[in-house]
Amino acid sequence: MVTQRVLITGGAGQVATLLRPRLVRPGRVLRLLDVRPPAEHPPTGGTAAPAEEIVSGSVTDLDAMVEACRDVDAIVHLGGQSREAGVEEVLRLNAYGTYCVLEAARRAGVRRVVLASSNHAAGFQGRDLAPDGDLPAAVPARPDTLYGWSKVAVEAAGQLYADRFGLDVICLRIGLWFPTPPGLRGLAMWLSPDDGARLVEACLATTGRGFRMVWGISRNTRRWWSLAEGEEIGYFPRDDAEEYAAQLVAEHGEPDFVGDPVLNRVGGQWCDVPLGESY
Ligand SMILES: NC(=O)c1ccc[n+]([C@@H]2O[C@H](COP(=O)([O-])OP(=O)(O)OC[C@H]3O[C@@H](n4cnc5c(N)ncnc54)[C@H](O)[C@@H]3O)[C@@H](O)[C@H]2O)c1
Repeated sequence: MVTQRVLITGGAGQVATLLRPRLVRPGRVLRLLDVRPPAEHPPTGGTAAPAEEIVSGSVTDLDAMVEACRDVDAIVHLGGQSREAGVEEVLRLNAYGTYCVLEAARRAGVRRVVLASSNHAAGFQGRDLAPDGDLPAAVPARPDTLYGWSKVAVEAAGQLYADRFGLDVICLRIGLWFPTPPGLRGLAMWLSPDDGARLVEACLATTGRGFRMVWGISRNTRRWWSLAEGEEIGYFPRDDAEEYAAQLVAEHGEPDFVGDPVLNRVGGQWCDVPLGESY
């Protein structure tokens, strides 16, 4: 018997592929929506294959999104442009796409939506705001790219639908959600695959209502972003990028997350990439 159906947009993407085997629960169905087919059998790490429904469609197609929301309990919205790109593309896929997701949720009666925002929505914020190493998750937006700007629009749309229609919307300001920390910045900002799944489970289970903003990071020894907002919704990360520190430091040298003018910004090197260009 289906007890919970979760719609995952961007279901073929990197993060969704990490999530799929980790979100397996009795009675839960994952409905994966993407413009391209997801990998047939993501590594399951020994767990049973998840119950899944595959939907081919675009987050920018409102009618298709309303249909995809049928009998859905919650949405995890990951689909869209995940890197810097031209202005029309990031606004169409991320800003307009998120509008379609939220509007479809409202029309279909889906009460809970988890939105993939990004650290790049606040990329120009700096370590100076967090001398104690706990930059609040809701630090004001300060995008570092057009992509980051589109994620500010994602967050604002989430706030709008929470205020207007009472949806429960949790915005994840994701750090670096990868199998292992990709480079020195990852020592502070990595979100491990298992912690990523813990974070999504907390978003699905919390009894907290309304709009929330949470950093998507692990319990990294060198973190300087707050875990408090995550703890409020029941997210208690267990992994630590420090496990990879020896290897990363041997390759790239010792990082300085206080004095280094690149590493002490939320968005790191993204603050310097050419605007609007794919790279
Ligand atoms: N991976 C990270 O470290 C990280 C960091 C910050 C934010 N994020 C955000 O998390 C989300 C997932 O990231 P990812 O690394 O899996 O990215 P990804 O690029 O691997 O996956 C995005 C998926 O969205 C799909 N997509 C593109 N256009 C679409 C459309 N019109 N309709 C439906 N699907 C469409 C793509 O086909 C792709 O499968 C993205 O929103 C990204 O911006 C990720």
